Amino acid sequence: MRSTIVAGNWKMHLDVAAARTLAGAVSAHVRSAALPPQVGVVLCPPAPLLAAVIDEVRDTSIGVGAQNMHAADSGAYTGETSAGMLLSLGCTHVILGHSERRQYFHESDQLVNGKLLQALRQGLRPIVCIGETLEQRETGITQPVLEIQLRESLAGISAEELRGVILAYEPVWAIGTGRTATPEQAQEAHAFIRSVLADMSDSDTAAHMVIQYGGSVKADNAAELFAQPDVDGGLVGGASLDATAFAAIIDAAR
Ligand code: 13P
Repeated sequence: MRSTIVAGNWKMHLDVAAARTLAGAVSAHVRSAALPPQVGVVLCPPAPLLAAVIDEVRDTSIGVGAQNMHAADSGAYTGETSAGMLLSLGCTHVILGHSERRQYFHESDQLVNGKLLQALRQGLRPIVCIGETLEQRETGITQPVLEIQLRESLAGISAEELRGVILAYEPVWAIGTGRTATPEQAQEAHAFIRSVLADMSDSDTAAHMVIQYGGSVKADNAAELFAQPDVDGGLVGGASLDATAFAAIIDAAR
């Protein structure tokens, strides 16, 4: 049975004090909720807030991820963060190729692939984001767009390594817009993604891979999205900044 993972992407919000308060509230919920072992929770704060969040979630099962990292071990890359630095802090996960990084920082599938190879080499669990724009959906090219993103972002990854990769299907038109994919649209995309993954590796590997949905996941739509057979939890933006809403989304993953 594959896991269901609910991750909060805090994007560029909060400060140290607010991060401690929110991570503390999520920790208290996870401690009292007695989640089944197949349900995972991950918090992804901005890099300067990672240490505070890691401190708040210690002694819980909550993972902590960065929102980005560099592909190199170290070097003259002003402003960047390496996998080794994240690991030395106690990070477990890293988001790679979020659509905001692709859009505003010009990250290509090739760049994401280099970061992914590094994350896997170093032992960070990657959450790789893919998704089509509204224009691509409306012109009927959603599937080819997703397939290219998958094949290029995941190039050179063995089937064994693929099992450790979390994918996040985040239709760009649903991010921060309040316009969620319907459960049927999400299921259709996730089933397609799993079929491409099976073609890239084998059906057993694809069946074991966690594919999250992201894009306006809220307390009141999480349960029906997570109930879809190929939707294995969510990557949550705005609603992850509200402890009560995020707790309800975690509970929807049971
Ligand atoms: P929202 O949940 O705010 O739409 O953001 C989704 C997202 O980008 C998560 O990575």
